[in-house]
Amino acid sequence: MSDVFPSEESSGQTSSPEADQQLQIEPARPPRVIAVANQKGGVGKTTTAINLGTALAAIGDEVLVIDLDPQGNASTGLGIDRRSRRHSTYDVLIGEATLRDSIVETAVPRLHIAPSTLDLSGLELELGQERDRAFRLRNALAPLNVASTGAKNFSYVLVDCPPSLNLLTVNAMAAAHAILVPLQCEFFALEGLSQLLKTVDQVRETLNPGLAIHGVVLTMYDARNNLCGQVVADVRQFMGPKVYETIIPRNVRVSEAPSYGKPVLVYDLKCSGSEAYLRLATEVIQREKELCAG
Ligand SMILES: Nc1ncnc2c1ncn2[C@@H]1O[C@H](COP(=O)(O)OP(=O)(O)O)[C@@H](O)[C@H]1O
Ligand SMILES: [Mg+2]
Repeated sequence: MSDVFPSEESSGQTSSPEADQQLQIEPARPPRVIAVANQKGGVGKTTTAINLGTALAAIGDEVLVIDLDPQGNASTGLGIDRRSRRHSTYDVLIGEATLRDSIVETAVPRLHIAPSTLDLSGLELELGQERDRAFRLRNALAPLNVASTGAKNFSYVLVDCPPSLNLLTVNAMAAAHAILVPLQCEFFALEGLSQLLKTVDQVRETLNPGLAIHGVVLTMYDARNNLCGQVVADVRQFMGPKVYETIIPRNVRVSEAPSYGKPVLVYDLKCSGSEAYLRLATEVIQREKELCAG
């Protein structure tokens, strides 16, 4: 694992104050970058990235989802077919396209995505021991910090991570202001969490001292299942106020929506899953204010 954590000096950032001044057309508030991460698969990362993104866009923000999972579920779930993925996040991280080149619009106003393709699964091997390998995403995001005419200025960037603590997830953590952790209400929920928190600590020590934990969102809650209630209590005890008040219920409409290439908020705005994701967005915005103020 340690070779995934090169030191911060090797980030390969080349911007100089003069270059920044030349590029800067008007001052922009840089986007807030939130990595949606958990090394377990099937816990609701992609569903959260898509639907939190949709809810934030619905509230009025320009949002970019970055698909960092070779499976490309966020891209498919937002209705981006493989032919429309002209430039993927693989091309961006390997240095063959800019992030802006890769961005495509979704059917949701103000919601955009940088799609992924299966090539992304080979990235770790291809980058080998390159010194800036953990900073590829951070460097690719840097131009978004500068407002330029005719280009979108994003308020939020949500990075949908793969189900692994590999170089892709480390790139997301190195680039992010904060991580948001979906946790499925199931017996083993807490088991992977300490390993995830350990990785966050390692990233803070080596790559990104400012990385915050935005919060933990409990997903797929089933009120009829007694175990779910116990898991909620355990997670709240372990993580305290880091756990969002909002709990995402298990809801069949949420699982149906991706097969129509739609966020659940578009597929069925009134269902319990949509309502929960709207509440989560309100909480996320509230915490953003607190994180940015502190
Ligand atoms: N709240 C929910 N209710 C019902 N099904 C859900 C819910 N959240 C996610 N799912 C389904 O569970 C599966 C795994 O979710 P996903 O977001 O893809 O997880 P991950 O990205 O962590 O692997 C998907 O089929 C998804 O549609
Ligand atoms: Mg996923």
